[in-house]
Amino acid sequence: MAASVLCAHSTQRLLLSRAFRASSWSRFAALGIHTTGGHMQANQKDFEKAQNDLKLLKKDPGNDVKLKLYALFKQGTQGHCSTPKPSMLDFVNKAKWDAWNSLGSLSKDEARQTYIELVSNLVSSESPTKDPSSSSRAERKYETLQVSCQDNITTISLDRPEKKNAITLQMYEEIGLALAEAAKDDSVITVLTGRGDYFCSGNDLNNFTNIPLEGKEKMSSDAAVILQAFVSKFIDFPKPLIAVVNGPAVGISVTILGMFDLVYATDRATFHTPFSQLGQSPEGCSSYTFPRIMGLSKAVEVLLFNKLLTAHEACKLGLVTEVFPDSTFKKEVWERLKSYGSLPKNSLAFSKQLIRETDKEKLHAVNVQECERLKERWLSEECMNAIISFFQNKAKL
Ligand code: COA
Repeated sequence: MAASVLCAHSTQRLLLSRAFRASSWSRFAALGIHTTGGHMQANQKDFEKAQNDLKLLKKDPGNDVKLKLYALFKQGTQGHCSTPKPSMLDFVNKAKWDAWNSLGSLSKDEARQTYIELVSNLVSSESPTKDPSSSSRAERKYETLQVSCQDNITTISLDRPEKKNAITLQMYEEIGLALAEAAKDDSVITVLTGRGDYFCSGNDLNNFTNIPLEGKEKMSSDAAVILQAFVSKFIDFPKPLIAVVNGPAVGISVTILGMFDLVYATDRATFHTPFSQLGQSPEGCSSYTFPRIMGLSKAVEVLLFNKLLTAHEACKLGLVTEVFPDSTFKKEVWERLKSYGSLPKNSLAFSKQLIRETDKEKLHAVNVQECERLKERWLSEECMNAIISFFQNKAKL
C-alpha cells in the first residue's frame, strides 16, 4: 500500500493547488476561451456557454475536476495530445499533460460534449433546487471508479487504465466508499475488477515524491490511518466479495486478495508484491492470510523475496480460486457470477459471516500492526532510497 497513501499532502498536489490558486479559479475557468478555433460545429454555442458558466461557479471544484476540464477543453479544441511529455519534476505541466494525454483518441466533438456535461453537472450541483439524491449525481459520484449494479451484482471497476490502475489517495477513499455502499445495497455479491489490461499496479508511486509541509512524520501517520481504514472495509465486508483479476496485479491489489471469498483470474494475470525492493513491508493482512493460505515457506518467498507468481502458480497455492483462458475469461466468469447473483442473498451473507467471523478480531489486530510497521518503513532511508532509484531508472528510459 504504502505509497499512494503518502500523498495526503503531496508536493504534486500542493504545487498544483498553488498553481491553480495563483491564477485564481475564475482565471482558470477563463482558460476555456483562449483557443477556440474556427472548426467548431454543431455544439459550438453550448460549448461557449459551458465556458462562460464555468466562470460563474462559486465553489472551487478541486484540482482533479479542473484537470479533467483542462484536458477536455484541449482535446475539444486541439484534438489529441501531441506535445512532448514534460519532465516528471515539472509537476504541474506533467499533471496537465497526463490528463490531456489520457483522453487518447477521443474525438473533438465527444470531448466538447463531455466538457459541456461536466460543467452542467457542476452548475446543477450548486443549484439549491437540485435534489441531492438524483441519479445523475449518483452516477458521477466516483471519478476513479466505475460502479454498476446489475443482476444482483455490484461491480466496482478501478478506472485508471492509462496508469495500470495504480491507486491514488482519492481512489483509496472512493473504493472505501463504494464498498460501504455495496455492503448496504440490495446486491447479492460484490465484484472488484480493473479496466484495461491491468487489474492494478498497486500504489501510485508518484506519491512517494511527496514531501508535505507538516513534515514526514505527520504524512506517515495520516497515511497509516488511511491504510488501516481501507483494509478494515475488506475485513468487515458482510457479503461475498469476488475479485475478477483481469490482468497483472501488484502490491496492495495482491495482498488484499486473502480477504476475498473468490478470486477468478485470467491466465494473463501475474501476482507480485515487491515490498522489500521498495524498502517496505506487507499490508492488507497478508502477513497473516498468506502463510495460512499458501503455507509459511511459500508466503515468505512471495512477501519477503519478491517472487512473482503466475496465475496458475497462485491458483496452485490457493490464493486464486480458478484460472481461465484470457480469450474466454470474461464470458465464463460473468456467466458464473450471474448464476451466483440469483442465489438467496441472506443465506450467502450469513454463511460468509460464519466462515469469516472467527478471524475478524485477529485480522483487525494484524491490520493495526502492519500499519504501525509501515509508518516506520515510510520514513526509513531504505524506502526513500528505493523510491528514488525507481524514478531514476524511469527517467533513464
Ligand atoms: N505508480 C505510478 N505510476 C504507475 C504505476 C504505479 N504503481 N504503475 C504504472 N504507472 C504508470 C507508469 O509510470 C506509466 O506512466 P507514464 O505513461 O506517465 O510514463 C503508465 O502508468 C504506464 O505504465 P508503464 O510502466 O509504461 O507500463 P509497463 O507495462 O511498461 O509496466 C508496470 C507496468 C506496472 C510493471 C510498471 O509500471 C511498474 O513497475 N510500476 C510500479 C509497480 C509498483 O512497484 N507498485 C507498488 C507496489 S508496492
